[in-house]
Amino acid sequence: MALSIFKRKEENLSKYREDFPVLKRQIKNKPIIYLDNACMSLRPHQVIEKSNEYYEQFPGCAGRSNHQIAQEVEKATQEARKKIAEFFGAESAKCVVFTKNCTEAINLVANGMRFQKGDVILTSDKEHNSNLLPWLKLQNAGIIKHDFVESAPENEFSLENLEKKLRHHGGKVKLVAVVYTSNLDGVTAPVKEIVKLAREFGAKVLFDCAQAAQHHEIKLKKLGADFIAVSSHKLCGPNGVGALISTEKNLELLNQFIVGGETVKDSSLDGSYVPESIPERFEAGLQNYPGIMGFGAALEYLEKVGIDNIQKHLLKLNEQATIGLSDVKGLQVLGPQLAAKRSGIYSFVLEGKKVHEVSLLLNNLHNIMVRSGAHCVHSWFNKPEQQRSVFKDGTVRASFGFYNTLEEVDTFVRAVKEISRL
Ligand code: ALA
Repeated sequence: MALSIFKRKEENLSKYREDFPVLKRQIKNKPIIYLDNACMSLRPHQVIEKSNEYYEQFPGCAGRSNHQIAQEVEKATQEARKKIAEFFGAESAKCVVFTKNCTEAINLVANGMRFQKGDVILTSDKEHNSNLLPWLKLQNAGIIKHDFVESAPENEFSLENLEKKLRHHGGKVKLVAVVYTSNLDGVTAPVKEIVKLAREFGAKVLFDCAQAAQHHEIKLKKLGADFIAVSSHKLCGPNGVGALISTEKNLELLNQFIVGGETVKDSSLDGSYVPESIPERFEAGLQNYPGIMGFGAALEYLEKVGIDNIQKHLLKLNEQATIGLSDVKGLQVLGPQLAAKRSGIYSFVLEGKKVHEVSLLLNNLHNIMVRSGAHCVHSWFNKPEQQRSVFKDGTVRASFGFYNTLEEVDTFVRAVKEISRL
């Protein structure tokens, strides 16, 4: 059963913190305060050990040779695939395609879908480059048209604007591809309503779940979406591995994207080849086996902590930061003013101070690690209204993890206040 890290059971939080080796690190004789979880989450020793097990016990490849070590890798890979399928509520393990990350998963959809002239892809106006560039590239090649749904005030997703765009394109929208929870400001889209509306207009739906998956229970079948894309590194798992999760029917309809070893049953010099079954037909070359195993272990770990517990804890941390900094002159928060609408993200500017300077000062003075800039969502900041606003050069973004404490948030609040006075 998941332990509550929320109901003032600080002992549980300390217990979890002990699982993360890097949290024991000190820099300049002070602990580190890691608030860059939207970039990458930290890894518990359970995940590190699982990945190491690959190198120490069976450093071979799956799906090819039939010796003992190869059989063990194959088994471990399929177990991780099954875990990921269960975690994300897919109909079977076949519906999980391993990729390098969420970006590659979205590229697989973009390059695998069969488009017809006039097809439109709709995104929001604040997509990470990973869910914008694949569509812009197709548009520039004359294959599709990309359009976007303008956000509502405070950066919230506008269902009204989505409906207008779906009507405007009159049945031509092939896919609505939207970020589930934004890495920019923490706003979560009304995903069920998006699926419902898209379906009414005959469009498929993809959610970029990179940011959301650690603190929202996402079950593909229950959600009714067609594709979800995730990265292990935002889920306490290793780098360099992610997944596209879909239905068997959707995957059967996708063209292969990257091809090579293990993506075919047979090939011949006359130019013909026979694609492998799903999902292997999309997984070209040797895979990131230690990453895949660590990914499975990370999901087990998150289940133990409890996705709901994580969400509640993040909101509590964000509320503490929001209240603590509410009286700082010249500080503006990006997105909703209500912390409850921003999950674990506190993205802000201090008027008159450069965002990269603020993040460096937080690092240099207090070992507080945040990210500053456009957070790979340049297109949002390049909108004329943003260029006219205090957010024109991006933001300083503190993004909380479930292992962060209220004390760390207090230190962050004090540090921002100090910098604001400099
Ligand atoms: N998507 C990651 C971030 O927001 C890289 O920092």
